[in-house]
Amino acid sequence: MRFCLNVDHVATLRNARNEREPDPVTYALMAELAGVDGIVVHLREDRRHINERDLAILKRTIKTKLDLEMAATEEIIRIACEIKPQLATIVPEKRMELTTEGGISVVDNIQMLNDAIRELHKYAIPVSLFIEPDMNQIDASAELEADFIEIHTGVFANARTEDEQFDELDKIRIGAKHAKKLGLGVNAGHGLDYKNIKIFRELQDIDEVSIGHSVIARSLYVGLRQAVDEMALLIKGLR
Ligand code: PXP
Repeated sequence: MRFCLNVDHVATLRNARNEREPDPVTYALMAELAGVDGIVVHLREDRRHINERDLAILKRTIKTKLDLEMAATEEIIRIACEIKPQLATIVPEKRMELTTEGGISVVDNIQMLNDAIRELHKYAIPVSLFIEPDMNQIDASAELEADFIEIHTGVFANARTEDEQFDELDKIRIGAKHAKKLGLGVNAGHGLDYKNIKIFRELQDIDEVSIGHSVIARSLYVGLRQAVDEMALLIKGLR
């Protein structure tokens, strides 16, 4: 299971004062030195955290890979095609939400997603669809020739009882296995933290996890290197 770090929160802090620090690009490069396998950013329509400057410099400087989370709008697709990230992850985006609230419904947005995937593929950008662990959504993703899915793990992360958590974990396990059989790469993310990763890491069919909040928050206490190190060891089952 590879570990990609979402650095949006660093840009949120910078933008809180309209200053230049802390710089998400510097942070991303430090995270790479600490051992992450990739950097994730979400260029939102309202630019509340990451902006075009961050994206362009990140693409030119990071040495691992850049996963761009994005809504499938004309403007953002155009920017993605210019920047050419190593992966474009299409997410639903609502202006008022604090963070992405769930997966995109592929079955309800076939035409829009088909157009977006074709355009991104023209520029040789692999595409991932952020979806719920639902068989219909997974089948539709494969039919649209997405390269990856990213399974939304928020329901698992927010489960209030162990039973609820295991039920959701089972859905993710079955969904990931099914997606693999269809030839899709399988990523996962949202709400994964230093506690629930110990259960989550048992899943065999997840290629990559995308984690932001818990690692950035921990890095404020213990420093980025230690925060990344602890999570990397947990993902590998060494802690
Ligand atoms: N994956 C996607 C598609 C997301 O939108 C987010 C949140 O930005 C994450 C993963 C990471 O979630 P968290 O910050 O809760 O780790």
